[in-house]
Amino acid sequence: MKILVVGKGGREHAIITALTESPSETEIFCFPGSDAIFELAKPVKADGVDSLISFMKENEIELCVAGEESYLVKDQGLANACEAAGIPCWGPPKESAQLEASKEFAKEFMVRHAIPTGGYTPVEDIEAARTAIDGKYPTVLKFDGLAAGKGVAVCLDEAMAEEFLDEVLVQRKFGAGRLLVEEFLEGPEISIFASVVDDKYQILAPARDYKRIYDADEGPNTGGMGAVSSLEMFEGDLRDVIDETIVRPTVEGLQKDGLPYRGFLYFGLMLTPQGPKVIEYNCRFGDPEAEAVLPLIEGDFASYMEMGAKGKLQPELIRFSSGWSVCLVSASAGYPASSRSGDVISGLDAVEKASIFHSGTKLNDAGLFETAGGRVLVVVAGGETRQEAVANVYAESDKVTFDGMQRRTDIGIRNF
Ligand code: AMP
Ligand code: GLY
Repeated sequence: MKILVVGKGGREHAIITALTESPSETEIFCFPGSDAIFELAKPVKADGVDSLISFMKENEIELCVAGEESYLVKDQGLANACEAAGIPCWGPPKESAQLEASKEFAKEFMVRHAIPTGGYTPVEDIEAARTAIDGKYPTVLKFDGLAAGKGVAVCLDEAMAEEFLDEVLVQRKFGAGRLLVEEFLEGPEISIFASVVDDKYQILAPARDYKRIYDADEGPNTGGMGAVSSLEMFEGDLRDVIDETIVRPTVEGLQKDGLPYRGFLYFGLMLTPQGPKVIEYNCRFGDPEAEAVLPLIEGDFASYMEMGAKGKLQPELIRFSSGWSVCLVSASAGYPASSRSGDVISGLDAVEKASIFHSGTKLNDAGLFETAGGRVLVVVAGGETRQEAVANVYAESDKVTFDGMQRRTDIGIRNF
């Protein structure tokens, strides 16, 4: 099966690794990819959705997998263009990807379908924002558009709120767009993933992501500094409650609204004392959650996605192994405010009992991997218990170092 994966980070590296480990014979291509990914997949030259479609037609690609979200809403939309070209695509069309691209669209969808979420007020300017905040802290401020995970601020006081409002509504750091003032929700977070195929869906293993840069959940939000996954995280009736109150109403809502969907749907949830509430939808797998969840999948992941993209969900093609999986992100100096490139990474070959997925690296002239982004790489290891998986991932990742490296020491430990 000839497959094109779109994306370039640790998530796409993990997806491609899972595809190559599938029993189905695969030939994998990746755009834009990375040097590490090109050890498993062939590079593609393209500069947008149209040229990707031309490439897929010329090379008789049988499945397009949207790893990241940006191409889903770019130009005419990757999935829309695939559909027009008759190429099965794992990833939703542009109109449905608004669930991720527009926070206001997502909120209106949830309200329309009675899906539990925090209250919100959309605002255009700083005065309206101040009125909506109404002196109540903590408050949550979200830029309504794609901002690479950086458009959200949980503000503990007025000074923090004013700083963010200035960046977003005055300096327009993320460009034009509205802002949502959201009710602050409390509780542990959980990331839920479902494979959605029209009116059918399958809930995958859940994960917990660690979003803050420093230990003890301190410092600014990042794209994610690590994640832990296990079916055991569905304690008691949690899985059923999430299914009945959130996942099923979402899939039914998509159907009622005439929004086609084939692909992974990610539910960022807060487990509040009043029950699970949706923080956000993403129309793709999480990163770094994918790096923790995908190694737990056994079976024929390639055929699973191919059949799903063609309209047939076949849950029996995959299984989740028991035990736990923990992934740990190493970030470069300066992250998340900035990032530093060019620090040579040592110890990659010494890692034996863990997998390494590259998020932001490149090969230098000497043939060595060096940093080339904020999140640099992800080490993932498993274990029968959470404690064992944590011990394994830390033992293995200690072997990998580079100048300025930032890595949390409490991934898989905190919030359990
Ligand atoms: P988002 O990009 O919407 O997922 O937000 C990023 C992070 O900000 C989430 O993972 C939460 O940790 C936090 N967050 C977002 N919305 C809320 C909320 N309404 N209440 C509390 N924390 C939130
Ligand atoms: N880990 C959060 C995300 O992928 O958006």
